[in-house]
Amino acid sequence: MLAEERTFVAIKPDGVQRGLIGEVCSRFERKGFKIMGMKLIQVTDEQAASHYAEHEGKPFYPRLIKYIQSGPVVVMVVKGYGVVDSVRHIVGATNPLNADVGTIRADYAQVMEYNVIHASDSLASAEREIAIYFNEDEIFDTWKTKTEELIEEDELL
Ligand code: CMP
Repeated sequence: MLAEERTFVAIKPDGVQRGLIGEVCSRFERKGFKIMGMKLIQVTDEQAASHYAEHEGKPFYPRLIKYIQSGPVVVMVVKGYGVVDSVRHIVGATNPLNADVGTIRADYAQVMEYNVIHASDSLASAEREIAIYFNEDEIFDTWKTKTEELIEEDELL
């Protein structure tokens, strides 16, 4: 049975500064995913610490926190079928050197420290990260994408 999921995506400060917001969003739109929530924010100390709690104590942690707060970030909630894994494929490996050709990180990043974009690595991470950055009343599911219409019409659900 097909089931929709939500994931969390952030265009990091280097992505915003380099004018990649439209490019990144268009990849998810062209795939047919639904952008349910989106805003430009300055990440707070609390949000940064909560988001990257699993990396606390690692050598790169201070740089990671400084980087994510170095300028505005675009945060998004994206919905679709298999969206967590699918978005990770579109984004590419954490280290751009290992990212498949055609992925966002292969196309736009050189080093792991400044890799343009973050995407949740599991459904549990997605829900945890969405809650760090969004109130539920900032997320809109009041419209259907074409993919949703087709799948619902065909009663594939
Ligand atoms: P992101 O997907 O935002 O999740 C955690 C981030 O930490 C990751 O992207 C990288 O930017 C960064 N990161 C992970 N591992 C390392 C590492 N070994 N050295 C430097 N940065 C890292």
